[in-house]
Amino acid sequence: MHVSSEIPPLKLVVVGHVDHGKSTLIGRLLHETNSLPDGKAEAVIAMSERRGMPVEWAFVLDALQAERDQGITIDTTQIFFNTEKRNYVIIDAPGHKEFLKNMVSGAALSDAAVLVIDAKDGMQEQSRRHGYILHLLGVRQVAVVINKMDLADYREERFQELTTEIRNYLSELGLEASAIIPVSAREGQGLISAPDRMPWYQGPSLVQVLDAFTPPVLPTERPLRLPVQDVYKFDERRIIAGRIESGRIRTGDTILISPSNKKVTVKSIESWNTNAPALSASAGQSVGITLSEQLFIERGQMISHEANAPVETNVFRARIFWLGRKPLEVGKRYKLKLANNEQTVEVQSIETVIDVENLTTHSGDTLERNAIGEVTLRARAMLALDEFSDNPKTGRFVLVDEYDTVGGGTIFMEGYPDQRSRTDVRSTNITAVEHRVTPELRAHANGHEGGVLWLTGLSGAGKSTIAIELEQQLFAKGYQVYVLDGDNVRFGLSSDLGFAPEDRVENIRRVGEVAKLFASAGVLVITAFISPYRADRDRARSIAPDLFHEVYVAADVATCEGRDPKGLYKKARAGEIKEFTGVSAPYEEPVTPEVTVDTADRTANESVAELMAYVEENFSLVKRNGDGR
Ligand code: ADX
Repeated sequence: MHVSSEIPPLKLVVVGHVDHGKSTLIGRLLHETNSLPDGKAEAVIAMSERRGMPVEWAFVLDALQAERDQGITIDTTQIFFNTEKRNYVIIDAPGHKEFLKNMVSGAALSDAAVLVIDAKDGMQEQSRRHGYILHLLGVRQVAVVINKMDLADYREERFQELTTEIRNYLSELGLEASAIIPVSAREGQGLISAPDRMPWYQGPSLVQVLDAFTPPVLPTERPLRLPVQDVYKFDERRIIAGRIESGRIRTGDTILISPSNKKVTVKSIESWNTNAPALSASAGQSVGITLSEQLFIERGQMISHEANAPVETNVFRARIFWLGRKPLEVGKRYKLKLANNEQTVEVQSIETVIDVENLTTHSGDTLERNAIGEVTLRARAMLALDEFSDNPKTGRFVLVDEYDTVGGGTIFMEGYPDQRSRTDVRSTNITAVEHRVTPELRAHANGHEGGVLWLTGLSGAGKSTIAIELEQQLFAKGYQVYVLDGDNVRFGLSSDLGFAPEDRVENIRRVGEVAKLFASAGVLVITAFISPYRADRDRARSIAPDLFHEVYVAADVATCEGRDPKGLYKKARAGEIKEFTGVSAPYEEPVTPEVTVDTADRTANESVAELMAYVEENFSLVKRNGDGR
């Protein structure tokens, strides 16, 4: 079969235990698609016959491997084949470790995956671990092959039983199989055409599934990413230089500079070796551009269009392959290199440590050499980046410790919001009006200053309980006091918001603004929101820096789960509530709150008493001035 070689091949990984017939599957697939070099199939058939055994298609791989071994050593092997529709390359590696290193660090990227499972063994531990690799790779297109159906007498019941089991397992990992195909690689059933030994199966063959996969997106087709490499001054002009990682840029385009969030027009695209300036340039090209306006631009910033801009954040999650002699540690700082950007990042947490040898997972505070982990990293400044699955070029990074590269990783944002500011003031021609009733006058009338007591903590930590009790006691003392509570606000002001990261950001933004209004009106506002992200609380503080007091209502997940006043943890564990804080969504503890009330080993009344004292100390004029008025 012949397919145009101009279209890039679809990159495929085949995962599964050797005993489950991975090599046989690949060998037979190569044979049936006529992709083997001349004479190779005959040789394998002859060899098997000589040994008086059925044709062993796995030998094909051995033979290909042997040829390759005479050449240079390479980390990953590539096996090419093609169908009538297109070319494929199977990426494989001699060892688990090399394979995972390449995949997790983003050095190799696959477009799709095939998971091979033995019909007789079923979803044993081995298959689960191989399934887990798919999760680590972040591949979205997965074909599951239930192999060795001949050993299960081609029975439909067995196939159905395994199908349910596999679908359940994959969905736990956030994956969905494009198809689950009953196959006998040895007997050539289900690979190319409908398996005649399994007439009950009406679905597609493996090759049909592969051919239906979405082809890889070419870098030129992805949104524009031009990391700024340097800014040169030529006579009066400033030329911004860099290599276009993806997309296209044209003169006259409005571009966005991240993370500074500035918009500007491309005046020209300079070319170094011709006289005529280019009108456009695309992925892979190094360019110098001039802008319609002089803006402060520096190395490390990212140029994109306004639509499909990169994520802007100072915290992100990553799958890291660790190479450092010293283990990666929570709390340690490393230099992050992402595109042309270099920033110091701190390891905020390690969610999962994965043992590369046997693919078991556990929790931990360190990542040893050659281990893979899912971690959360935090930078001081905002970064412009992409999720690896959206853009492989700007979604991977390396970590450097002193002068050594100690790890490589790919970015995913699960649980974290894009922090790109959506709060730019959209209106024009607006002018702030000044009040004549000053905060001092209001405070004098009320006997206390207005302000915000911002309670943050997990669901079940006691925020609402404390807030409501405190409100009552303060009111009894004559305070103008009001509680803004998460659940209540979500019935009204935030009724259009759910619990996705971006929704929480918006929820907290609105509450921050409302709290500020109340506080400026002289009221003491007590807010009771999980407010899980540090950046959001900091933003709420920045709305009214002098009025804001952060109160960490501290209780760990286990304690809150033990209380479970609304039965929500139970539902979350059962998978009935997605993105539940503390269970399947992050909570970032405050670093320097004004007050911490530890509710784990204290009664609500004790916590309230502590906050009462804090309020009297900080807000009361009576307390401060003796007679108060
Ligand atoms: S926040 O994250 O945006 O600050 P908020 O405090 O408004 O959350 O709402 C939290 C309340 O909503 C919890 O106390 C709980 O009763 C309820 N809730 C429902 N679904 C979720 C969820 N997925 N995560 C957290 N809380 C949830």
